[in-house]
Amino acid sequence: MTTTSDSPGATPPAADGDAEDIILSTEGITKRFGAVVALRGVDMHLRRGEVLGLVGDNGAGKSTFVKIVTGFQRQDAGRIFVEREEVNFHSVTDARRAGIETVYQDLALVPQLTVYENLFLNRELTGLGRLGWLSRPKMRRLATEYLHDIRVSVPDIDAEVELLSGGQRQAIAVARATRQNAKILLLDEPLAAMGAKESTLIIDLVKDLSKNRGVSMIVIDHNYTHLFELCDRLNVIQQGRVTVDTRVADTSVEDLTELMVAEYRRQVREGQALLQA
Ligand SMILES: Nc1ncnc2c1ncn2[C@@H]1O[C@H](COP(=O)(O)OP(=O)(O)OP(=O)(O)O)[C@@H](O)[C@H]1O
Ligand SMILES: [Mg+2]
Repeated sequence: MTTTSDSPGATPPAADGDAEDIILSTEGITKRFGAVVALRGVDMHLRRGEVLGLVGDNGAGKSTFVKIVTGFQRQDAGRIFVEREEVNFHSVTDARRAGIETVYQDLALVPQLTVYENLFLNRELTGLGRLGWLSRPKMRRLATEYLHDIRVSVPDIDAEVELLSGGQRQAIAVARATRQNAKILLLDEPLAAMGAKESTLIIDLVKDLSKNRGVSMIVIDHNYTHLFELCDRLNVIQQGRVTVDTRVADTSVEDLTELMVAEYRRQVREGQALLQA
């Protein structure tokens, strides 16, 4: 396990493997909202086919990081690289073109449309207007094939999405994001508010996409058990910085909890020292 808190701003050392395998990396990402500094120089890397978990307290900056990498918000400083090429995202469409997709908490599905219609819905538009370019039988067939390929089972491809469970809806949103050849998928709390059975559905889907389709993923989750099941590697974000970079195989829930507490105490001490200075 590597803690990086002693060297803020330094590139986290590679946990293992070949540096050539890095599909996404960031250097020194900072973001401020008025007086709040959300990110203070985030250096991160993601390998091809890897599932990287982000963990950290509420307000640590995890969602802000994801929003920047997916082109939804722009960093104040810092650089983003996709396959070692620097990229400059001004919109979600820019990030999509670079093969980066995300599934937001509200999923952006249209509840009144069927499973297959949602899979084909043009994401820039809401409404039925742009569904006409493929015949419905063809859409149904392609949707059925794709869901079968990625082992997502829904009761009925003709069911309206509003009739599906939260887990099934999340699976459809992930399927839609990956259907168009996403190389990198970012999931912000995909298991929030899901029961054990629903979570298993998504955990299996994430594992399948990474292992069998080579999709690289960043997953935010507050639940260590989920993260240990899902991820190859974990980064802890604390107060807008990556403080721990570790392979899941090199740590445990207990180790990580201890580390988080130790880092929290260190920050409290630093804060107190600053106040006394
Ligand atoms: N649009 C915004 N305007 C102002 N402040 C913001 C905005 N977005 C985020 N912040 C602030 O930036 C900090 C980081 O927020 P962020 O949502 O990234 O945290 P998080 O790690 O995702 O937390 P959580 O685990 O609760 O989802 C917080 O202090 C938050 O209040
Ligand atoms: Mg968040």
